[in-house]
Amino acid sequence: MIVALTGFMGSGKSSTGRVLSEKLGFPFTDLDGAIGERAGKTIPEIFATEGEKAFRALETSTLKDVVEKAEDNLVLSLGGGTVMEPQARAILAEHCFCIYLKASVETLIGNLSGAEEGRPMLSGASLRERIAVLLEERSATYEETADATVDVDGLSPEQAAEAIVTICRQ
Ligand code: S3P
Repeated sequence: MIVALTGFMGSGKSSTGRVLSEKLGFPFTDLDGAIGERAGKTIPEIFATEGEKAFRALETSTLKDVVEKAEDNLVLSLGGGTVMEPQARAILAEHCFCIYLKASVETLIGNLSGAEEGRPMLSGASLRERIAVLLEERSATYEETADATVDVDGLSPEQAAEAIVTICRQ
């Protein structure tokens, strides 16, 4: 079983994914980390030198690679924009059990304040505005792609992971 965590930047995909992998005893992969390793560059460097379109192509091909190489079980934290690519959604639908970590704008602002630097998609307008606009664009896709949703407002990564374990065992 591949448990893939989706949701907006700052919703806790990576921190929850790490705790979840320990609880389930599954290996853990962070898609952003795998992309960086593959490209030999950081995510901001990829955006700066190759642009968003090239990043998305690399993101989808890395997802394909990770999923194909996964032995049996895996916890996989996706990037906030991974599900916006139709080909990525097809890969997820075929191979993964997707959990949407759903967070409010207030929670996201709290988690992302000061952490914008490594996230090119947040540059430009004010943090609140950028989050609100992108979340509006993406919310329906997060919902549609998910096999289950966990409302993470007020939850620690530990509590979110526990909620996911319960879902996975149902
Ligand atoms: C992105 C989210 C980032 C990373 C890249 C683009 C997005 O991942 O993949 O900066 O488009 O939402 P996190 O959600 O882990 O920050």
